[in-house]
Amino acid sequence: MIYPRLLALVFAACVLSSSSAREITTEEIKEKAALGFHLLSFAAGAEPVWKSEEETDALVSKHAHFIDVTDTYEDDLAYKAASFVKELLVVSYPPPSHQREIAPIIGNVSLSTMQGYLTKLTSFNNRYYKAPSGQEASVWIRNTVADVITQYPTSKASVSLYVHPSWLQNSIVAKIPGSVNPNGAVTILGAHMDSIGGGDLMTSRAPGADDDGTGTVNLLEAFRVLMKGEFRPATPVEFHWYALSPLAMYGLSCSYYMCRYSGEEAGLRGSGAIAADYKKNNVQVKSMLQLDMTAYVKPGTQPVIAFMPDYTNANLTEFAGRLVDTYTTAKWVISEPCGYGCSDHASWHNRDYPAILPFEGLFSNINKVIHTPGDTVNVTGFSWSHSLEYAKLAAAFAYELGA
Ligand SMILES: *[C@@H]1O[C@H](CO)[C@@H](O)[C@H](O)[C@H]1NC(C)=O
Ligand SMILES: *[C@@H]1O[C@H](CO)[C@@H](O)[C@H](O)[C@H]1NC(C)=O
Ligand SMILES: *[C@@H]1O[C@H](CO)[C@@H](O)[C@H](O)[C@H]1NC(C)=O
Ligand SMILES: [Zn+2]
Repeated sequence: MIYPRLLALVFAACVLSSSSAREITTEEIKEKAALGFHLLSFAAGAEPVWKSEEETDALVSKHAHFIDVTDTYEDDLAYKAASFVKELLVVSYPPPSHQREIAPIIGNVSLSTMQGYLTKLTSFNNRYYKAPSGQEASVWIRNTVADVITQYPTSKASVSLYVHPSWLQNSIVAKIPGSVNPNGAVTILGAHMDSIGGGDLMTSRAPGADDDGTGTVNLLEAFRVLMKGEFRPATPVEFHWYALSPLAMYGLSCSYYMCRYSGEEAGLRGSGAIAADYKKNNVQVKSMLQLDMTAYVKPGTQPVIAFMPDYTNANLTEFAGRLVDTYTTAKWVISEPCGYGCSDHASWHNRDYPAILPFEGLFSNINKVIHTPGDTVNVTGFSWSHSLEYAKLAAAFAYELGA
């Protein structure tokens, strides 16, 4: 209760303060963007500034904290101004109630299938959002999902590339239609597909095994077992793999605008574009679960699923905690805050959709080799058995909320 209200006040303050600053006009955004400039927000409440493509890449390489607001500046400003007077959404969730149906489905979650997916995913030189290999990885994800759907045609599920006009890599959106209420509020599960290795991001090696190969393959596997188990949700369920988002875990300080980048690794733009789209088209979202890094257990610590307390919905976190207790063998805790919109859930949260981030452990115990060529499955602490629990959690989340 307190948290969303505080947020509304922060938004209001931002909108008010920005009205006294220099106006950035539609024409200016069009012209500058066409020349390859990026509009970057470095702190909540501060006016965003223009940076060239080269300057932006250099900031990404340095893991600077910013959000690219080029595509959403105007929509978000308009939305935030409106939300100042809007009733805040209240969400509550019933206890888990589909144990009988879900148990056999998550019983089919396969470690070797996930390992096979990750081997393929990490074999692309990198999954940078502007690199041809980043685009190839997104097509591979689409094809992998399409192959699963082909095996279960009566599911009526579909998958498509979500094209981002400003860069090469696509996001991927898979949809399982609602059988009772096809236009009902959507349950969304997300992960980001892009990866960065440091240095020259176009060419440097970026296996991105933990960040976010793990979340990506957890969702592929959750999708597969749900299809196999003939999951027919009453309301729509969607799986998203976002292009461009890797700066996330380095602290893109999420301003009131949004984290933007399909590349989570470059400012959450993929998820930002999709969430802005849904908001604009009045799509109701019941819940959003983001998986971003699910394998690393710091040596000497006990494995825990750690829910991020900031930029997330506390009621949905509590609900997902009960899913962890009911459907997995894991323990869960609340992490210390990451302090910024550290992954794509923030793109949804900041647009007033309930979202959560069950992270691989306490934020202070984060895998330190992400965003380097060393982010592989061979890192000491990389735990497949820990990551497996997130695939079960994802399948249970989709089932309980979609059913
Ligand atoms: C959480 O649930 C409680 C009880 O249903 C409700 O009063 C509260 O407003 C909810 N909070 C949010 C952020 O939705
Ligand atoms: C689990 O997998 C087994 C073996 O392929 C299959 O026979 C069974 O129907 C599956 N169960 C569900 C719920 O998908
Ligand atoms: C991990 O280690 C195994 C065994 O030493 C090796 O075969 C494999 O190539 C390594 N994988 C990576 C990604 O480094
Ligand atoms: Zn990430």
